[in-house]
Amino acid sequence: MSKAFYITTAIDYVNGHPHLGHAYEKVITDVIVRARRSLGEEVFFLTGLDEHGQKVQQSADAAGKAAQAYCDELAESWKALAAKLGLTNNDFIRTTEQRHKSIVQAALTKLHNAGHFYKATYKGFYSTKEETFLTDRDRRPDGTFDPSYGEVIELEEENYYFKLQVHQQWLIEHIESHPEFISPSYRRNEVLGFLKNNVLEDLCITRPAARLTWGIPLPFDNDYVTYVWFDALTNYVSAAGAHGDPVVLKAFEGVGLTTQTPRLTPQNLWPADVHVIGKDIVRFHSVYWPIMLKAMELPLPKQVLAHGWWMKDSQKMSKTTGNVVDPIAVIEEWGLDAFRYYVVRELDIGPDGNWTDAGFQARYHAELANGLGNLVNRALSMLKRYRQGVVPNRSDELAQDATQAARETIDHYRRHRLQQALQSIWSWVTRANQYVDQTAPFKLAKDPAQAARLDEILYNLAETCRLLAVLLWPVLPTTAGKIFAQLGISESPDRMTAATWGGLSPGHTIGGAAPLFPRRDQPAK
Ligand code: ME8
Ligand code: MG
Repeated sequence: MSKAFYITTAIDYVNGHPHLGHAYEKVITDVIVRARRSLGEEVFFLTGLDEHGQKVQQSADAAGKAAQAYCDELAESWKALAAKLGLTNNDFIRTTEQRHKSIVQAALTKLHNAGHFYKATYKGFYSTKEETFLTDRDRRPDGTFDPSYGEVIELEEENYYFKLQVHQQWLIEHIESHPEFISPSYRRNEVLGFLKNNVLEDLCITRPAARLTWGIPLPFDNDYVTYVWFDALTNYVSAAGAHGDPVVLKAFEGVGLTTQTPRLTPQNLWPADVHVIGKDIVRFHSVYWPIMLKAMELPLPKQVLAHGWWMKDSQKMSKTTGNVVDPIAVIEEWGLDAFRYYVVRELDIGPDGNWTDAGFQARYHAELANGLGNLVNRALSMLKRYRQGVVPNRSDELAQDATQAARETIDHYRRHRLQQALQSIWSWVTRANQYVDQTAPFKLAKDPAQAARLDEILYNLAETCRLLAVLLWPVLPTTAGKIFAQLGISESPDRMTAATWGGLSPGHTIGGAAPLFPRRDQPAK
């Protein structure tokens, strides 16, 4: 049984409001997934929700609802968002599901039995908002805590701790000997700097049930529930276990794992190939998570891929100030593909980005309507008008450009350089539009002596449209499908092997041309 390429996103806090940042992360993951599938790889794509913890309990209380009922309701809207974004995820995990809870409890039992935990009293500062303990080291130069921590309270309580210091050295060595483990490299350098300049503090892995009940009960002490981050990170493994992954099931043999019969044919998933996450949770994924896995005796993921954060109009997005981009509203107004295109094209995976409505509309008009849309519309309308939609004899005038664009694009997809993939595709779109202007087929059409030359041009343009659809499919699945339909091709453009010149057969009749991205900037008549 071969191992699927296993890729995950962060699981969103169920009580949060889905915004551009959440949507972005899921879209870039989906593009990576579709590109790999198109290249013939078997891929397993996991996303889902983080549903336990104090924040969720407080929001449920505020809404006057039982926590589980509150989560169930919100989960529906998050699943609707996933569908609206066109995600091709294989599973959607919720941390309140039994399949997840049983693996978390098995993991806790295993680590407890192996002596990784101890109980101790803590006295100090605590941020409820971030559900994290703070020390004086977390204070800013002026003595205050960052406002992102919300209200910081002082408390004293007994909890279980996970010993981390013994893991510090091997983790440093692992990160140093696996340069691809944390990407981009500046995030890797930050983590290495942190590990080399600090002694790792032990991780508190419980919360007293007296203070917080909305969590997974600690299997060996009923007075506690599991810390939400220990619970949440484990989702990547529990989903694999639920699909019968033999590596995961073996790791939890004999520690009380009540494995429900896996729902599907067993799949080889673990270790994960890529965890796609935002820059704010790099430390959880590249320090705590590898240590947890090592203690569970499970292999480490191959890569933590950290994207940057979106702002809107150069300000942090915030529900309270109303400064948010609602992905659903954008999709409803402009279409799914326009949204997917903009976020992938605008922001490389790594740095922070800035959404402006003007920037979005500028790219829509220049690159989608005038660039791609205009090219496809001109190519297919002329073929309809001058040749009744029948594809002429093959001509290879643009074959070299096409081959080069395809090679570059595929290489970028393979390396998860999605922005560059679109840049390669668009340099070819520009080239093809220039070809129309330079060869002026609309003039040649008036001169019967130029019929052979017109045939050549029309073939090159139609074939260009076909190849573009294949290369674009991972980012613009709907548009790629429309281009194929307009070309009268009944297959789906989801196979990268079709991105070779000459696939369109002479004599084939295309469908009808229709604008892909109507201009929206002309005043309504
Ligand atoms: O952190 N721009 O959940 P979350 C880009 N439950 N990405 C953003 C963003 C922005 N403005 N705001 C948030 C959690 N994100 C945990 C994760 S994983 C085991 C547990 C990203 O709902 C953020 O970086 O606060 C994270 O990757 C994801 O959205 C979920 O954030
Ligand atoms: Mg967050």
